[in-house]
Amino acid sequence: MNLAVIGSGGREHSICYKLKQSNKIDKLICIPGNAGTQTLAENINIDIKNFKEILKIIKIKNIDIVVIGPEEPLVNGIVDFLNKEGVKVLGPDKFASKLEGSKAFMKDLCKKNNIPTAKFGVFEDYDSAIHFLKSNKTPIVVKADGLAAGKGVSICNNIEEAKNKIKEIMEGKFKSSKKVVLEEFLEGEELSYFVISDNNCYKFFGSAQDHKKVGEGDVGPNTGGMGAYSPSNLLNDELENKIKKKIIEPTLKEMKNLGHPYTGFLYAGLMISNGEPYLIEYNIRMGDPECQVLMMRLKTDLLEILDLVTKNELKKVNIEWYDDNAITVVLCAKGYPGNYIKDSEIKNIYKVETDKNNQIFHAGTYIKDNRVFSSGGRVLNITSKANKLKVARDKSLENLKKISWIDGFFRRDIGWRAVNKK
Ligand code: AMP
Ligand code: GLY
Repeated sequence: MNLAVIGSGGREHSICYKLKQSNKIDKLICIPGNAGTQTLAENINIDIKNFKEILKIIKIKNIDIVVIGPEEPLVNGIVDFLNKEGVKVLGPDKFASKLEGSKAFMKDLCKKNNIPTAKFGVFEDYDSAIHFLKSNKTPIVVKADGLAAGKGVSICNNIEEAKNKIKEIMEGKFKSSKKVVLEEFLEGEELSYFVISDNNCYKFFGSAQDHKKVGEGDVGPNTGGMGAYSPSNLLNDELENKIKKKIIEPTLKEMKNLGHPYTGFLYAGLMISNGEPYLIEYNIRMGDPECQVLMMRLKTDLLEILDLVTKNELKKVNIEWYDDNAITVVLCAKGYPGNYIKDSEIKNIYKVETDKNNQIFHAGTYIKDNRVFSSGGRVLNITSKANKLKVARDKSLENLKKISWIDGFFRRDIGWRAVNKK
């Protein structure tokens, strides 16, 4: 079969890595891809906002299934567009993509279906937002309603800070929406929980824990994710049962009732508070960097899973995982998540020996004259798997030492909550 992967991050590189292992794969293309996907797939440099160009290439290359990595094309309706042209795509349609694309939609769906989530209000005018603010405790969480590239959430410790954030959003800081969501602050530990779904059923697709803060010890501004490990040490049968019954199943049922059954990967960002799961957010795609650790642990042929999903026959496959712990440490360009250095050469990547337990997934990289350069904030994902999490982390850190990049930095403490427990 011929597959196309849309995107250019570590997530997409790890998806290509796993697809390439399938004995059913004939052709693999990545749009636009990065220096890592180039070694596994044919990179085709098209702007992923340009659906017409994507369709043209998909027809020329006889692609059977298209996998959409990032949220933006999904929210903008790429699935509806390609389906109409008879192309099979893995991902939710434009309506179902509101689960991530509009926090107000997601929160209203939770309220209607008694899905546990932080108490909240959605506001379009400043005065009512301030009224809500004054009747709630701090810290309070201020969120932009629409997509904001990971920059739309602020945890505010006082009213003044919250007022400023509300003003910024209402004055149009984020193009996607001027609505503000205000939320009670939830205490606890975060868990990323994944499922894959077709029109008839859904299946567990792994758990992980991301590290969103830029600094060691979880300090500093939020990022897209500085590293992750899988499986999460928080998950047990009792908690998983609650997540499925109280959160995942009511959501999928409601999407069906609304006439838009959810298909594709669904990523629930959860806060676990005293053993109870609360939904913080839905993502309508795999996580990045969570995907990188999940692809190391996935035993079943990914292509087979995706093929069955697009035929609504997911129930036929038993999805299996390696019991090992996997970890990924993200090597970033100095300055990230603010303004960061670009076009800086990264040397000696080849010195890291890669195998089924050790991989480097590229994110913001490109190749010029056989040399690798950085182009993004998150640049490489140094990923390892071992029976113990500590062993996997030590291996990733050892591999990082072999790479020479003076303009890079990373967190040495990924997995700190779990490293001595598993
Ligand atoms: P989001 O973009 O919604 O994932 O939010 C980014 C991060 O902000 C989450 O991963 C949490 O760490 C934090 N966060 C969001 N909402 C809440 C909340 N209601 N209580 C506590 N932390 C939150
Ligand atoms: N790792 C966070 C995300 O993919 O949204």
